[in-house]
Parts: sequence; structure tokens; C-alpha cells
Amino acid sequence: MAPAASPLAYIPFVSVENMMRLVHHHGIEQVLRDLAEEIEGDYRRWDMFEKAPRLASHSRDGVIELMPTSDGQTFSFKYVNGHPGNIVKGYQTVAAFGLLARVDTGYPLMLSEMTLLTALRTAATSAMAARYLAPKGARTMAVIGNGAQAEFQALAMKAVIGVEEVRLYDIDPAAKRKAVHNLQGSGIRVTSCDTAQDAIEGAQIVTTCTADKAYATILSDNMVGEGIHINAIGGDCPGKTELHRDILSRASTFVEYEPQTRIEGEIQQMPPAYPVTELWQVVRGDAAGRRGSREITLFDSVGFAIEDFSALRYVHGKLQDGDYCHQLDMLADPDDPRDLFGMLQRAA
Ligand SMILES: NC(=O)c1ccc[n+]([C@@H]2O[C@H](COP(=O)([O-])OP(=O)(O)OC[C@H]3O[C@@H](n4cnc5c(N)ncnc54)[C@H](O)[C@@H]3O)[C@@H](O)[C@H]2O)c1
Repeated sequence: MAPAASPLAYIPFVSVENMMRLVHHHGIEQVLRDLAEEIEGDYRRWDMFEKAPRLASHSRDGVIELMPTSDGQTFSFKYVNGHPGNIVKGYQTVAAFGLLARVDTGYPLMLSEMTLLTALRTAATSAMAARYLAPKGARTMAVIGNGAQAEFQALAMKAVIGVEEVRLYDIDPAAKRKAVHNLQGSGIRVTSCDTAQDAIEGAQIVTTCTADKAYATILSDNMVGEGIHINAIGGDCPGKTELHRDILSRASTFVEYEPQTRIEGEIQQMPPAYPVTELWQVVRGDAAGRRGSREITLFDSVGFAIEDFSALRYVHGKLQDGDYCHQLDMLADPDDPRDLFGMLQRAA
């Protein structure tokens, strides 16, 4: 039998089961509010982070991405995919895991599932952005695309900015029925709609979270009235957009990290000179958010590494509150750090 691993070998691992326990312990709306606050806090210290467009490996069926960042003390990365055709095979469109590490030693601090955490952090980021960009007092939102992200998006808008009604539409009636069912008892009034046009009727916020590897037109120009806030999260890959470009010509557009969004976001349809504002500038008060009641605001969200960093650090901070992790024997730790081979030999 191999000798027992030493303490340095063990890394906390947050499984899907433990992530669900952690969320239920604190309450999903509280977690969404806390995540929005964490992400907002990290947006305020944006200049402290290493930033680069994520590394993407594209294939016919989808994309696999690595999303690293560091604030100089802590490093994180997320592995995430986007495969719109997965649903018919019984797989998730988006699945993820991630790691938090110490910069001083390079040793991991925590490995975690991030499929649930991505849905939570994406929704929290959307709601944080809406706080600056949505019309004041927005109470009704539409969610077009009622897949894995949909209910998280609705609940975050309720928890963070007080949305009271959600109007749902999906081309697949089964997805819509699922979302209607899941949001029952959430305290949000839910309306099931027959078309996207019907869904956006009376909504001050429109979230598009569809998945199709195509230049899709989920919203066309004539559907979008003055004063609306569009939270576009589904267009997040080259060749994958949701909005007709004429909407972009009328909108004030806010992005996470411009170099990445130019490649992946709705603005890939626009010339390089098309003006955008990075959201951190608005959060810091260096740039204006919504400037008037008639302005169309667009959060062209693609998901950025700093949001995952915030989410992982939040989960890491909660590990002390309860028994939310397993210890993984993940790092080889010989008694003499240089005797890696000897450790292997002795285990024979
Ligand atoms: N911006 C971000 O940070 C971020 C994070 C996570 C996911 N995403 C993206 O959000 C999208 C949704 O993710 P998901 O996990 O919910 O995917 P999903 O596959 O679970 O759900 C997508 C839904 O969109 C519906 N749909 C497709 N075309 C439609 C159309 N024309 N009109 C109405 N509905 C339509 C599908 O029927 C499906 O129910 C994906 O494109 C994903 O890549 C972005």
C-alpha cells in the first residue's frame, strides 16, 4: 500500500453536490446578491488584474475555453465549453470547472465544479450591470431562451434590482414549460409567451440567452423600443450572435473586456471603431451608465475571467462555514522536495 499523503498534497475540492448544499445553506438569492457584490468589488479594482482574451479552441461543434486571471496574490482559471448541439445528446451546452491558486507558491487553494457556479456568476454579473444600465425602477424582464441559464438570470434580477415579473419565450415549448415550473414559488410573476415579440412587450429589461452557433436574429431592430436595457449573454463566440446589427447602431454598448468582446460579442458584427464602454469604468464612476430614459443600453456579455475569479474566491471563503469540500490527494509531496522519483519508487 502506498504511504498516506502528506497535508501539502491535499487540495479542497467542491463537488456539484457540495456546491448545491452551499447554495441552499445560504439561500440562492443571497448567494446571487453576494456574488454581485464580490464581482462589483473586483470590477472596482480592475487595474490590479492580469487580463487577456480567453484561449479558445474552436471546432465544428463548439468551443473549449481557458480563462485565466490573477490579482498578484491569487490566480484562477476556468475550463468551460460551449456546445449548442449538446442538448440533443443529453449533455449540457455549458459545463465548467475551475481552480484557485496562491501566486507565491503556485500551489492550488481549491478545485471546484463551475457549471452551477458559472450560471450563478453570469446571472449575478447581468444583475450588477443592470443596476447601472437598466431604466430606474425596472420591474419586468423578458428572458428569451429558457435553457440552463434562464432561471438564474430571472432570480438574480429579482434579488439584486427587484424585478417582479418575468416573461418567458423559447422556440422549444418544453424548455419554456421547465422554466415556468421552476420559477413557481420564487416570488416572481411568470408569464409564458408565444413569440419573442410577445415576451418583450412591456419589459424594461430583455435578456437573450439562446444557444445557436450562428449569426442569429433573436431580436430585430423593429422589436426594440426606446428606453430598453438589453442583457445579451448568448452571443459569446465568433460566428455566434443574437442581435441584428441595426440594434447596435442605436444602442449604447457596454462590455466586460473590450479585446475579448471584439472577438466574441455582438460587436463582432461592427467595425473596429464602433464605440463601447467597459463596465468597470461605469462601476468606478469614470464613465456614465444609462444617461436618459430613452436610451437603449446593451450589456454585450460574453463572460470574463475576473467574474470567475470573484466567484471562486467567494466559494473558497465559504469553505470554513461548513463541510462543503472533499480533500483531494492532488499534489505529489515527497518528504524531500527533490526526491520525487524516490517517492514513486517507495510506493512500488
Ligand atoms: N455571457 C456569459 O457569461 C455566458 C455564460 C454562460 C452561458 N452563456 C451563453 O448563454 C447561452 C445559453 O446558455 P444555456 O446554458 O442556457 O444554453 P441551453 O442550451 O441550456 O439553452 C438555450 C436555449 O435557447 C433556446 N433557443 C435556441 N434558439 C432560440 C431562438 N431562436 N429563440 C428562442 N429560444 C431559442 C433553446 O431551445 C434552449 O432552450 C449559450 O449561448 C451560452 O454559450 C453565456
